[in-house]
Amino acid sequence: MKILLTAGPTREYLDDVRYLSNASSGRMGYALAEAAIAAGHDVILVSGPVDLPPPADCDLRSVMTTADMRDASVAAFPECDGVIAAAAVCDYQPKVRTPGKMTKTGGPITIELIETDDVLAQLGSQREHRWVVGFALEAENARENALQKLRAKNCDVVLLNHPLAIGSETNEVQLLGQQGETVEEWSGTKSDIARSLIEWIDGNLTRD
Ligand code: CTP
Repeated sequence: MKILLTAGPTREYLDDVRYLSNASSGRMGYALAEAAIAAGHDVILVSGPVDLPPPADCDLRSVMTTADMRDASVAAFPECDGVIAAAAVCDYQPKVRTPGKMTKTGGPITIELIETDDVLAQLGSQREHRWVVGFALEAENARENALQKLRAKNCDVVLLNHPLAIGSETNEVQLLGQQGETVEEWSGTKSDIARSLIEWIDGNLTRD
């Protein structure tokens, strides 16, 4: 199979030097890329800025902003069998990106933010025969919110995470199905969880 993977954070720029982002390390996405390659799959890894070396033999497409991630993912999706969206995408962008560097005003300033595009929702809407695995990072009402995302983004399953997963070495996750039921539950290092998810996809989502 050829698998599209999104990983890491995205950045949304206020001016040419300042940006909004989050603390995603990219570890989960990179562990998934490694596990998929080890299982014999080809991987296109669309990654935001992270401090990790790309796994050998993966087709890395480096991006910065959410719009870059959307464009790279939409371009790669048609040649893939499915997508795993592990990226911690920045949901808001400044309405205006000021050229150069904003100077201090001596007082408070207000920055207007608008929503970025939803990369996974766009892939879900054009999935056709492809499988789609989303992530959901939830602090409260976890199952309900994750199920809503699964439906809104046209996923087969979502991997439910807690915000404590961001930047951590280990993780505890639940794989949720179409009715919000727990299909699998895994804990351990991100590499352990990545291997389990790839194995599960191999056994359940391949449509050969
Ligand atoms: N996602 C995406 N593009 C976005 C936002 C999210 O592709 N602009 C993807 C993530 O990679 C993940 C899933 O959608 O696979 C859910 O992301 P999450 O951050 O949990 O939820 P959001 O949809 O951003 O909603 P909220 O932040 O309000 O919980």
